[in-house]
Amino acid sequence: MSRSKIVIAIDGPAASGKSSTAAWVARELGFQHLDSGMLYRAETGRRLGIADLRSPEVTANVSAVAQIPSVRAAVNAELRRIAETENVVVDGRDIGSVVFPDAQLKIFLVADPWERARRRLHQKLGRAVLDAEIADETRRLVERDASDATNTLQARDAVLIDTTYLTQEEQVQRIVSLAQEC
Ligand code: DC
Repeated sequence: MSRSKIVIAIDGPAASGKSSTAAWVARELGFQHLDSGMLYRAETGRRLGIADLRSPEVTANVSAVAQIPSVRAAVNAELRRIAETENVVVDGRDIGSVVFPDAQLKIFLVADPWERARRRLHQKLGRAVLDAEIADETRRLVERDASDATNTLQARDAVLIDTTYLTQEEQVQRIVSLAQEC
């Protein structure tokens, strides 16, 4: 049976701009945005007794918590429950492949690691960043990509968008146009 509500799945590696892009696409379309990484962070924060879900402690531990099958099952059930009654834009690592294989639109965002690191630092620090800082952050990102690799699964029918040379507005417009063709 096909879905009655619309699911747009946006997957990709750390700092590929998934969450901010998904939030913007959801606003444009009047859909609800579901950030699955935040659900894994929430479970990690609960286990560690930490309230700041973007803290370095949560970030350092979330990959391991996200490997636990019962945690994945609970997160996936929650996402599917909401998508039964709402049109949603869901971002994560395995949304188009595992959680919603029947999503009407699947996007896989990629970007050069150096550019992902530069964007992340620029967003965090709000200033121009030095090459040495970007190099350190690139190393951390590549390590995170490796620890998340088993759960990062690109759906075969996903549209691959390389955002290295795109502005966020351009990525959003590309996804919104694809959604309007669905
Ligand atoms: O996107 P993020 O950095 O907030 O994700 C936090 C962690 O959760 C990261 O280690 C990858 C993991 N994750 C996952 O395994 N599956 C998802 N669908 C979303 C996130």
